[in-house]
Amino acid sequence: MVDKVNVGIIGCGNIFPAYMKGLRNYEILEVAAVADMDLSRAQARAKEFNIPHAYSVSELLADPSIEIVVNLTVPQAHAEVTLVILNAGKHAYGEKPLALNRDEGAQILASASAKGLLVGSAPDTFLGGGIQTARKVIDDGLIGRLIAATACMAGHGPESWHPNPEFYYKLGGGPMFDMGPYYLTALINLMGPIKRVTGSAQISFPERIATSKEKNGLKITVDVPTYVAGIMDFASGAVGTIITSFDTWSHNLPLIEIYGSEGSMNVPDPNNFGGKVLVRRWDEKDWREIKLSHSDEIGRGTGVADMAYAIRSGRAHRASGQLAFHVLDLMQSFHEASSQGTHVTLTSTVVQPAALPVGLKKGTLDS
Ligand SMILES: NC(=O)c1ccc[n+]([C@@H]2O[C@H](COP(=O)([O-])OP(=O)(O)OC[C@H]3O[C@@H](n4cnc5c(N)ncnc54)[C@H](O)[C@@H]3O)[C@@H](O)[C@H]2O)c1
Repeated sequence: MVDKVNVGIIGCGNIFPAYMKGLRNYEILEVAAVADMDLSRAQARAKEFNIPHAYSVSELLADPSIEIVVNLTVPQAHAEVTLVILNAGKHAYGEKPLALNRDEGAQILASASAKGLLVGSAPDTFLGGGIQTARKVIDDGLIGRLIAATACMAGHGPESWHPNPEFYYKLGGGPMFDMGPYYLTALINLMGPIKRVTGSAQISFPERIATSKEKNGLKITVDVPTYVAGIMDFASGAVGTIITSFDTWSHNLPLIEIYGSEGSMNVPDPNNFGGKVLVRRWDEKDWREIKLSHSDEIGRGTGVADMAYAIRSGRAHRASGQLAFHVLDLMQSFHEASSQGTHVTLTSTVVQPAALPVGLKKGTLDS
């Protein structure tokens, strides 16, 4: 019998249902309680998903049965909430970004390390069949030595669909802090850490007007760059480029492509768990699809389950605080490189997370 880990969730907003669906895929996890600064939201979600307790934040943190607390608050509250979770003696797993800046992120890692607790962070989409298959293509040597990569996330912002879109245009928002983590985490998982970056960033529209049904007509002042282009030097010697934009109506660029000495790979959307992996080696006439080596029938919360296995067995977890901190360092560095007109050498690094084993039983992450 699996030794279950009880989970509490703080933040019962838009992304909450996706987590409930994903967390309940795993036999090791039990969602025991939820909390929100707006207690009525927690009560409504507890009823909707049949969760035993709807608490205030302090009640949830005082419940001794809870081992991991998942932080699904808005980016501006991530560090503060993660620090109180750690102070309560519980492992913390949060939505991206880890924090608003390096100082806050470093405080989180230091607090966890001092207390012997684990910190994890979204995204965990890189644990899905799409990116894990791409990783296997690289590890198996199919495209040879890694030369370069390109990544592009370009759309026209979330104010057309999100019920509370303001946070996307405040510190901690913008396309790089919001969507960059999916692309950068996937790239680091595939190609290893990054040692130096430069970038250019701009605010293309100083004001946005929401058209989502909840906030139609709301004027939002834009505080952060909404078009960010970056260049990365990987520690391995490969070169990467990335665009993140909330200012683009349409485009035909690949989401992620990786170029090796023996061939090229088209990597599926790093915001999803599946998708098509395409490879074209130097001697092939066309792209061919690679059958997924890992399951794509998993969802958000897989990183929490991986952390639960790590707590029970003592092994490393994959969607780790160190990985999220390296991503945060990169995102801040692209913006600093742009405002200062320079390259930025990163002070952080991370060990590439272990690839997931092939052939895992559904609902488990360790073979
Ligand atoms: N909405 C999406 O599609 C989506 C997708 C992936 C990731 N995310 C990430 O998930 C996080 C949450 O996004 P969302 O869309 O659910 O936002 P949301 O605004 O819909 O919900 C956030 C919830 O957190 C609560 N909250 C805020 N500050 C709090 C605090 N200090 N203490 C307790 N509760 C607090 C709010 O009351 C609200 O219920 C963000 O980091 C976002 O980037 C969202």
